[in-house]
Amino acid sequence: MSCNCTAIVVAIFIVIILGAGHAVTGARIGAMMIRQPVQMFREAPAFWNGAECAAGGGGRVDIAMTLDANYLRGTMAAVLSILQHTACPESMVFHFLTAEADDRGLAAALRASFPSLDLRVYRFDPSRVRDRISRSVRQELDQPLNYARVYLADTLPADVRRVTYLDSDVVVVDDIRALASVDLAGHVLAAPEYCHANFSNYFTDAFWSHLALNGTFRGRRPCYFNTGVMVMDVVKWRAGGYTRRVEEWMAVQKRRRIYHLGSLPPFLLVFAGRIRAVDHRWNQHGLGGDNVEGRCRGLHPGPISLLHWSGKGKPWLRLDTRRPCSVDYLWAPYDLYRYSSPVIEEW
Ligand SMILES: *[C@@H]1O[C@H](CO)[C@@H](O)[C@H](O)[C@H]1NC(C)=O
Ligand SMILES: *[C@@H]1O[C@H](CO)[C@@H](O)[C@H](O)[C@H]1NC(C)=O
Repeated sequence: MSCNCTAIVVAIFIVIILGAGHAVTGARIGAMMIRQPVQMFREAPAFWNGAECAAGGGGRVDIAMTLDANYLRGTMAAVLSILQHTACPESMVFHFLTAEADDRGLAAALRASFPSLDLRVYRFDPSRVRDRISRSVRQELDQPLNYARVYLADTLPADVRRVTYLDSDVVVVDDIRALASVDLAGHVLAAPEYCHANFSNYFTDAFWSHLALNGTFRGRRPCYFNTGVMVMDVVKWRAGGYTRRVEEWMAVQKRRRIYHLGSLPPFLLVFAGRIRAVDHRWNQHGLGGDNVEGRCRGLHPGPISLLHWSGKGKPWLRLDTRRPCSVDYLWAPYDLYRYSSPVIEEW
């Protein structure tokens, strides 16, 4: 058996080192350089617009997400899924909000995996919201970055007039343009609505028994919606001062506990019953289930355009620990993570 093993080893080495790109931290030890990959992701396949896409940026689609080291793998999968399923991937502009003081590693990892993607990174100052956050029932909901969606309109440049906000634990399996171009019919937000959910449970007795507060929903039919997938008229949001309106409810929550969860209830207080409802296919939420108690959620019946692993369990963690839920196999094809052991090279 003949084998040009040296060449193969060298080739593998080059591939690994190139692939690691900027997403590595180096530590010099003696004459050796140990490169410890922080995250290593494959490069996504190249993508081009189809013939039906508007030329000259007319069909531009602005998408906003947060960017965080803990969710980078989810972000990568979400971006890949969007590009794979839209007819106009070159028309997508991604806006990432990050709370990290130094986001160069995260941004570089994204750029390495999606070299031709139009992506922009904005710093979201966590101190802007830190003092406004009151502790919720789930610690991960209290992260400042969870509130970045409240500040989208203040963060995005003026030429972004409409944005589609997505959580990092989603994959899109349909053309995102259908969601992003929804007729807002004069509303500030569009999202799937769930009117059968019992609204009482999102707010405390302190809220329902307070004369000045418990009439908040009078005159509207308040329905639950999930803020992990929403289309926003950024111009209307700014004009209506909605950032301040959401912040005001956060201030009320600070004084007297009126709800249990984090960033969702203040959105409900301002917007429930006042949004444009879109088809449920655009947010199959709850797929995260509750991995602490080992509970898996199945899919709801009906067509699906977007899968959302909201809840405690994340598909990449469950796949890594070899205890996946069956829905996690729907996420796996979009995983760009490439497992690799540390590379040691001669210095
Ligand atoms: C909603 O939940 C509250 C409190 O848990 C309960 O008192 C009420 O009857 C429920 N309403 C409906 C319509 O199920
Ligand atoms: C609102 O609070 C007041 C004062 O506690 C109470 O009398 C009233 O029944 C409440 N209204 C509703 C709709 O719960």
